[in-house]
Amino acid sequence: MSRNMKCIVKTSAGTGNLELLEKPIPLPGEGEVLIKVHLAAICGTDVHIKDWEEFASKRIIPPVTIGHEFCGEIISVGYGVNEKRVGELVSAESHIACHKCALCLDGKENLCINTRAIGVHIDGCFAEYITIPSENAYVCNPDISEVNNAMLEPLGVAVHAATKISLAGKTVVITGCGPIGLMAATVAKKLGSSKVICVEPNDYRAEAAYKMGADLVLNPFHFDIVQEIRQECEGIGPDVVLEFSGNAGAIKDATKYIRAGGKIIVGGLPANEISLNFTDIFYRGVNMYGLSGREMYHTWKIMTGLLNSGMDVSDCVSHILPMEEFDKAFQLIESGQALKILLRP
Ligand SMILES: NC(=O)c1ccc[n+]([C@@H]2O[C@H](COP(=O)([O-])OP(=O)(O)OC[C@H]3O[C@@H](n4cnc5c(N)ncnc54)[C@H](O)[C@@H]3O)[C@@H](O)[C@H]2O)c1
Ligand SMILES: [Zn+2]
Ligand SMILES: [Zn+2]
Repeated sequence: MSRNMKCIVKTSAGTGNLELLEKPIPLPGEGEVLIKVHLAAICGTDVHIKDWEEFASKRIIPPVTIGHEFCGEIISVGYGVNEKRVGELVSAESHIACHKCALCLDGKENLCINTRAIGVHIDGCFAEYITIPSENAYVCNPDISEVNNAMLEPLGVAVHAATKISLAGKTVVITGCGPIGLMAATVAKKLGSSKVICVEPNDYRAEAAYKMGADLVLNPFHFDIVQEIRQECEGIGPDVVLEFSGNAGAIKDATKYIRAGGKIIVGGLPANEISLNFTDIFYRGVNMYGLSGREMYHTWKIMTGLLNSGMDVSDCVSHILPMEEFDKAFQLIESGQALKILLRP
């Protein structure tokens, strides 16, 4: 093994400043595992870091290797970790919980008030090797394709949303067909939704939504979305909305077309504050649920079960590129002509 490895580092504050560098291969510390990264995926968070948006500038102290979605093989373990873990194929829960705060002690580690994140607070997976806490290295099924295994972390967000409430026999609207919304369409169908309607303005992504299982995809710029969706759902609106656009207009519309007593899972991250008419919500008995990350490790168990029983989300991948071509990958994402892009170290 050479002593150095290639990695993509946010080298300093400000827009851009992502560089392919060589760094020493890290050693696993106490309670950690060293993983050889097989395949990684670019997330919207990595784009926020590159563009140095508020989310990133408030959390990141450069230099840091970015990336948090991947699969790979454990090649060595630190003090206190069972040697038998060497050789395991794993993916990672990107949130490192403290296990000490009131929320962790209440079994809500995904809401830990001291959360640290891989590729944000500690070096990430856009590298040949990564060290993470052993507990965050979740064992993958080697019979599942590498592409699916590399996307367990974002798939977990879709699965978490789709399992917060029962979807069996329900009409479901998914707003935003980025990778997470697309995966949510596949999950909703797998969980027995009677009808999955996606809302997405980008034609390239709308086409992918049909491939991922949507029964109908509507462009919000071409339809009166509130009227059209109500009509498509027995004239009274859908049972459930899974919101993955982060778009203010899409969220406002959802509070208007959701049926009385319906449920809106809010997963998308809006850029700014959004004003809502609460009469649409409380008066009609609408429930809104905030969604953060994945339940540790309940969501992981469900999603691996779904994959083991034949679910496949690989159609949400548009490109697999060598890690050296990360600039091209980010440009493709920003062009809107890409879905999930995977990087191979
Ligand atoms: N809740 C969580 O724990 C969690 C975790 C990861 C990501 N996220 C958030 O989830 C969202 C989805 O992630 P992604 O990676 O798929 O993002 P993405 O940015 O690739 O997808 C968002 C999609 O919404 C579409 N959109 C824009 N305006 C719209 C409108 N008016 N109506 C419908 N769709 C519209 C865009 O064209 C795009 O395809 C993001 O906001 C992201 O920040 C949340
Ligand atoms: Zn992510
Ligand atoms: Zn905690």
